[in-house]
Amino acid sequence: MTQKVLLTGDRPTGRLHLGHYVGSLLARVRLQNSGDYRCFVLIADLQALTDNFKEPRLVADSVYQVALDYLAVGLDPALTTIAIQSRVPALAELTVIYMNLVTLARLQRNPTVKSEIAAKGFGGSVPTGFVLYPISQAADITFCKADVVPVGADQLPMLELTREIARSFNTLYASVLVEPEALLGDDEQSRRLPGITGNDTKMSKSLNNAIYLADDADTLRAKVWQMFTDPGHLRASDPGTVEGNTVFTYLDVFAQDTQRVAEMKEHYQHGGLGDVKVKNYLVDVLEDRLAPIRRRRAEFAADPALVWDMLRAGSEVAAGVGEQTLAEVKAAMGLDYFGRAHNVL
Ligand code: TRP
Repeated sequence: MTQKVLLTGDRPTGRLHLGHYVGSLLARVRLQNSGDYRCFVLIADLQALTDNFKEPRLVADSVYQVALDYLAVGLDPALTTIAIQSRVPALAELTVIYMNLVTLARLQRNPTVKSEIAAKGFGGSVPTGFVLYPISQAADITFCKADVVPVGADQLPMLELTREIARSFNTLYASVLVEPEALLGDDEQSRRLPGITGNDTKMSKSLNNAIYLADDADTLRAKVWQMFTDPGHLRASDPGTVEGNTVFTYLDVFAQDTQRVAEMKEHYQHGGLGDVKVKNYLVDVLEDRLAPIRRRRAEFAADPALVWDMLRAGSEVAAGVGEQTLAEVKAAMGLDYFGRAHNVL
């Protein structure tokens, strides 16, 4: 049976946190280990630069941090090709070719890009590279002819655009590209994990409310202590609310012992269970989950050359795959100048 091709990617703008873990990393590792897919993960440094071009060092340093996070959670370079976007030259060429297949108006309608533009405060001066990044993302997805792309709902406009580009290309020239399908996690996997400062904010670096995979035990404890609970629950004896109570939201996501969580909720709602006890339990639950990840991360971090070798090897594999697709793309368009017999008039 031939494996389907799976590709996904991340922008390297910092270390990965529990939101990434719940929202995508867990599913990726499971898909990788299923054996059903030929897996690629792209560390999209060029895309990260589209809104961090003033801080290229941050992006470059984050490539390494993200790689450590991947390895720590169990992405295995023997099963998943982990590549750095800027080390796959075909992506840039594919992007230039695809630019002709997308109108400016189409790009300007992308709802994810629109809300990002608003959030980043670009005002009237949106960098061209930023508006174009969905086209470069289509190159990311098509260079390996990905069949499936596990992503969050915010990435659906990118998938739709990629499908349109593939369809246009295949219709205009020759059937070379694959129209990818999005693989949305089920509710549980794609659940947005709130940040530590409350249920209405998602966990994100920019909001400074994240628990990182690399956080040590003391930092983890300190962050759990800062977490929002029920502001009306002043004394342990007061009845408390569990809905919208971040500590319970986290327990729902991470605790294995659902029976115990149910009992704690009951107790909390009746009164008599203090925040301190609930938080202590959450610290234990998260520590159980994060301690092995942290340990593996430290092991890899002790040998940076090994991590860089892994990234180099993965990037070389991806570059080769990209060259192959690019050659097919060019041949379909008759741009394979030196590779075919010419009729000279
Ligand atoms: N745009 C994605 C994000 O912000 C990152 C990304 C880059 C990506 N290239 C990709 C995701 C290719 C899926 C496929 O999270």
